[in-house]
Amino acid sequence: MQTNVGLLGYGTVGAGVAKIISLEDSLLSQKVGWPLKLARAVVRDLSGRRSFPAPPGLLTTDPSEVVGNPGIQVVVEVMGGLEPARTLVLRALEAGQHVVTANKALLAVHGREIFETAAQSRREVAFEAAVAGAIPVIRTLKEGLAANRIQSVAGILNGTTNYILTKMSRGGAGFAATLKEAQELGFAEADPTTDVEGTDAAHKLILLTALAYGVLPTLDDIHAEGITGLEPEDFSFAEALGYVIKLLAQASLNSGDGRLEVRLHPTMIPRGHLLAGVSGAMNAVMIRGHASGDIFLSGAGAGMMPTASAVVGDIVEIARLARSESGLSKPSLGWHSLKAETVKPASEIWSRYYLRFSVLDRPGVLASLAGILARHDVSIAQMIQKGPDAAAAGESVRLVMLTHSAPAKSIRAALGETGGKEWCRGPARLLRVEDFAQG
Ligand SMILES: NC(=O)c1ccc[n+]([C@@H]2O[C@H](COP(=O)([O-])OP(=O)(O)OC[C@H]3O[C@@H](n4cnc5c(N)ncnc54)[C@H](OP(=O)(O)O)[C@@H]3O)[C@@H](O)[C@H]2O)c1
Repeated sequence: MQTNVGLLGYGTVGAGVAKIISLEDSLLSQKVGWPLKLARAVVRDLSGRRSFPAPPGLLTTDPSEVVGNPGIQVVVEVMGGLEPARTLVLRALEAGQHVVTANKALLAVHGREIFETAAQSRREVAFEAAVAGAIPVIRTLKEGLAANRIQSVAGILNGTTNYILTKMSRGGAGFAATLKEAQELGFAEADPTTDVEGTDAAHKLILLTALAYGVLPTLDDIHAEGITGLEPEDFSFAEALGYVIKLLAQASLNSGDGRLEVRLHPTMIPRGHLLAGVSGAMNAVMIRGHASGDIFLSGAGAGMMPTASAVVGDIVEIARLARSESGLSKPSLGWHSLKAETVKPASEIWSRYYLRFSVLDRPGVLASLAGILARHDVSIAQMIQKGPDAAAAGESVRLVMLTHSAPAKSIRAALGETGGKEWCRGPARLLRVEDFAQG
């Protein structure tokens, strides 16, 4: 007996999976109890260059040689994109095959349909590689922390943006120049849009929310903001205030109103916090369970071998279950069904804020600005003034404030008002501040 695996895709991740299954065959067969065999791999172009050469006869351009093939028990979707990945995954489940995927976009957008089909077919959809690469965060939430009510999940889920933010905090260069350098060094794609605008990390956050709370929000339900608006001086001010800037994904249950808060945005976090020390292309996740307390996981969030490590871990788990002949009864998300509950609108979420204003260097301006904030119930915890600004011929100064906690709608309303004042030189910059207080 053995478990036969079919790949949909033999690119970066697919070749890594093939490499582990081929080179670690005896290790894997010890762990499963019988051999894993790579049976077929679907690609678009048979003549493409492969970073781990495929044995003769493995590659095909015909997905039906994998999907619906009764000789293949596990279909590994590592082709990316929404179609034909969605159709092929659904067909595989309906045909009684288990599915392993690294495709966060597919699950974030079509997860409900895919998980429901898996449940009806009593088949598994495993997706450890879809969130934070090699880090076993899915299994930790589903199994290791199953006894817990999850209070919060916070993570750095995109290596490209973390690399850029780390560089900006150290080098003082602007966003565009740092992105270009990241592209030259292979830390950013030629088209970096989904990374720098936050879509990739938001897709992963949606999956973590589903695992932690049984709610699968859509991208429209959550506040997702990327890193394109950050400027070098925000990093200097953050440092002066004792913080670093990270693109932080957060899902939490508000203990006051019992509602779910899900958001992704550049966030100032205290320099001494574990997440602040996660640098370069690394990823990390911090989970707070009511019984476990804080759990911190960190590691490589992408790349051929780290991602393949997570994919093969899922294949091994499925092969073990198949071998035990217990049938597959455990639901893919660790939940029997997804709840319809919605997440709290971003405007109602409370946070501390960093606000940076450029204002005329004139008596009375500070009092006027403080008065506007006070009228919107925004109170100031700390302030720095810098300037006058040489570039503006000594006319304007920078005022940076850290606020106490306030709802986003109050901050927006206050900034709407300050923006209309003749002493205000350009739009204010805002960042959320997260101190990770025990709720
Ligand atoms: N790369 C990473 O570090 C990483 C990390 C975590 C998750 N992921 C996820 O893993 C998935 C795969 O990523 P990747 O970097 O391995 O992608 P990739 O290098 O572009 O490889 C994609 C593979 O799928 C094949 N393919 C794509 N569309 C196809 C179609 N319509 N029909 C047949 N074959 C098709 C390609 O065939 P050809 O080779 O012939 O072009 C290629 O072999 C994505 O969902 C990605 O988000 C990647």
